Amino acid sequence: MTHLECSRPNCDKVVPYDTPQNLCPACKSPLLARYDLRKAAQTLSLSALKGRQNSMWRYEEVMPNATPVTLGEGMTPLVHTKRLGAKLGLNRLYIKDEGMNPTASFKARGLSAAVTMAQSLGIKTIALPTAGNAGGAAAAYAAHAGMKCVIAMPADTPSTNILEARAFGADVRLIDGLISDCGKFIAENQAANGWFEVSTLKEPYRIEGKKTMGYELWEEFDGDLPDVIVYPTGGGVGLIGMVKAFEELEAMGLAGSKRPRMISAQAAGCAPIVRAFEQHADASVFWDNATTVASGLRVPKALGDFLILSGVYSTGGAAVAATDDEMMDACKELAHLEGIFAAPEGGAGLVAVQQLVSAGKIQADESVVVFNTGSGYKYSEAWNATIPAR
Ligand SMILES: Cc1ncc(COP(=O)(O)O)c(C=O)c1O
Repeated sequence: MTHLECSRPNCDKVVPYDTPQNLCPACKSPLLARYDLRKAAQTLSLSALKGRQNSMWRYEEVMPNATPVTLGEGMTPLVHTKRLGAKLGLNRLYIKDEGMNPTASFKARGLSAAVTMAQSLGIKTIALPTAGNAGGAAAAYAAHAGMKCVIAMPADTPSTNILEARAFGADVRLIDGLISDCGKFIAENQAANGWFEVSTLKEPYRIEGKKTMGYELWEEFDGDLPDVIVYPTGGGVGLIGMVKAFEELEAMGLAGSKRPRMISAQAAGCAPIVRAFEQHADASVFWDNATTVASGLRVPKALGDFLILSGVYSTGGAAVAATDDEMMDACKELAHLEGIFAAPEGGAGLVAVQQLVSAGKIQADESVVVFNTGSGYKYSEAWNATIPAR
């Protein structure tokens, strides 16, 4: 890592990485970590990776340089779902099962990286708003690092998220409202209490953890990339991170200029990115009265909306919304046909695939990866309402 750089195209602010950083000091946009990719390319290759540790930290040349706070995150199963694929008319449908991460969601990747850097910079207490899973992951990594963790969550967050965060010893504040209200609470209280904010995109390293999903696909597809990636989008960190990973791989000469089409899947009850996409807009508008069983998608306005949309547009992707009933039906089908117990967010990704296949926008022989971003085990309320109790 060499420095941090503002993500806003017309802001060229550069800041050092050896002091704690949140947003760009000039324009308040997210900061991105930059590396000496020429040097990285000297040692990073598919063959060099073969003997390395079985976690996301195997991509050490392009990860923050600090001793990892790790619980073994990343290297999740990529499952070729042939039976479900046949039903959807696809020969190469894969589920990247992020529910298999520590704390049972992909949030482990981002929080492992964020807590790693926070620890190396001497931070004692991290704080964040969360839709649920990020809070559980933050609490777990903070516990592992011996740090304190303050979490603000909507009071109606799935009960397992509240339970796990408390079990890991976090200070959990339940807020009557949405993640945007929780964000306000953290932002207003952090300075007085000496908390370091690790809110989505307000610190630079959660993206670095999430981008490893892109590196893993590159490794799993043997140096190639899939044709289509479907990403359940709230704050959009994973989508932004994967686009960054593909740019880094190309800059290192490890991948070509071909990009997977990035599909943003959202919930019909909270679809600011889909609405912006349909209007060909570069940024989203706050979504009023957001409601969906896919709690991770209940983000009315993402700080990095312009980066999500640019990732979708620049790859020829799309943004698609699913109703709660559609996503739970898709989850049931995935469970019945493939033995994968998914989060509703993963179901939203499958609904997006169904819609795009029907519209002729995904072809039968294209390789399609849907991210199941969390485990169904964390959504007992949603699953209980879906499966008859007999
Ligand atoms: C299971 C799950 N899927 C998807 C998301 C959305 O992730 P992102 O904020 O990276 O878009 C979340 C966020 O809380 C989540 O918990």
